[in-house]
Amino acid sequence: MKGLVIEGGERLVGEVTVSGAKNAALPALAAALLVDGTCRFTNVPHLRDVETFRALLESLGVRFRWKEKGELEVDASSIEGVTASYDLVKTMRASILVLGPLLARMEEAVVSLPGGCAIGARPVDLHLKGLEQLGVQIELEHGYIKARAPTLNGAQIYLDIPTVTGTENLMMAAATIQGTTVIENAACEPEVEELAEILKAMGAEIEGAGTTVLTIRGVEKLRPIEYRIMSDRIEAGTLMVAAGITGGNILMEGCRLEHMEAVVGKLREVGMEISPVREGKVRAVGDHRIRSADVKTLPYPGFPTDMQAQFMALITLANGLSVISETIFENRFMHVSELRRMGADIRVQGSTAIVNGVPALSGAPVMATDLRASASLVLAGLAATGMTVVSRAYHLERGYEDLEGKLAALGAKVKKVDLDEGLGEQEQGL
Ligand code: UD1
Repeated sequence: MKGLVIEGGERLVGEVTVSGAKNAALPALAAALLVDGTCRFTNVPHLRDVETFRALLESLGVRFRWKEKGELEVDASSIEGVTASYDLVKTMRASILVLGPLLARMEEAVVSLPGGCAIGARPVDLHLKGLEQLGVQIELEHGYIKARAPTLNGAQIYLDIPTVTGTENLMMAAATIQGTTVIENAACEPEVEELAEILKAMGAEIEGAGTTVLTIRGVEKLRPIEYRIMSDRIEAGTLMVAAGITGGNILMEGCRLEHMEAVVGKLREVGMEISPVREGKVRAVGDHRIRSADVKTLPYPGFPTDMQAQFMALITLANGLSVISETIFENRFMHVSELRRMGADIRVQGSTAIVNGVPALSGAPVMATDLRASASLVLAGLAATGMTVVSRAYHLERGYEDLEGKLAALGAKVKKVDLDEGLGEQEQGL
């Protein structure tokens, strides 16, 4: 099992480039299923989740070719299967994104129910309810969603919760069916807006991208495109926190501040300087004492749940009391017990964490439980005194492209090791 060994206390300084966004790349690959031809995407991050999604699409007959770094060709001219198996779906909930496009293209889809995951129950009822409104017949059998769509028609859909992948699934299902679909209370995350832009580039007629009301007028067919995936606002936020927690000064390329207002606002509130500089680059400076700040996670444009764990790591070192409320997922404080093992003073009451800042964290062996919790522990390790060993680093690989490489290039002492072989490498220095 791979783990990360971090020798804390180094100030991060230098330049770093933010990778393409995982949560934009996955729906882009799903959208390619709608096209009888080859789409070419650039700036695709090389991640475990992208590989899992590739394996899933390959099992349906889609052909992939990695070209140069970050360039991926997706040829969905022949679809041979309609089943997304449990083995593939269970490892990644976003696999549900094949449901909408498969129905639109093949009139049929069999997709394993994702089930629970470490951060909560995360049902897909709203995906299914919306699809039923478009005319899809759905049965749940043996843990699978069996969906048939002999004739689909546009409909008015109101989402009880602005679900991100639910909105994406419905948008993809509606792009090539008869009539007009209106999705109200749609998610307006930048990645949802990007999927609308991708579908529009393919020839779909979509209005309201990036707002809570999407209007999709069905078109006959979609065409192949070339498209550059946007940069990852969560990775950018994570790197900013890395600068903040180490008192560092980093210059970031590929960072879209307009997608990060809530996060940047909070980082400024705790004392960081975040400023756009030349050529679209952004500087993040953290050489001030961290101040406390309260945070509530919300759908976009609110503070993203995917940055909650990383922000918590930062304010464990603040000069006072901070309150973090998690309103999106019910079980997203798995990092708390591990941060406590590093000396953080955090109490959890239901969906609220009360963080009392401490002067220092101390390195410890800790275990990653999910993707963003892992990032939080790595960040804490960068600031802690002594050595932190984060086991189960594969969680990190799901959503961060070479995070340890990027941190090391900025001056962090961090290294991936094989924990089964012991930590012999630690003696060799990091
Ligand atoms: C997406 C992101 C994930 C992010 C999350 C919230 C991708 C691939 N993943 O996940 O990184 O943390 O948005 O910003 O883009 N819900 C229901 N019924 C449904 C669907 C969702 O009750 O049918 C609930 C969920 O349990 C959760 C909330 O809605 O409480 C938001 O979830 P959702 O937006 O669907 O998250 P994902 O799309 O899975």
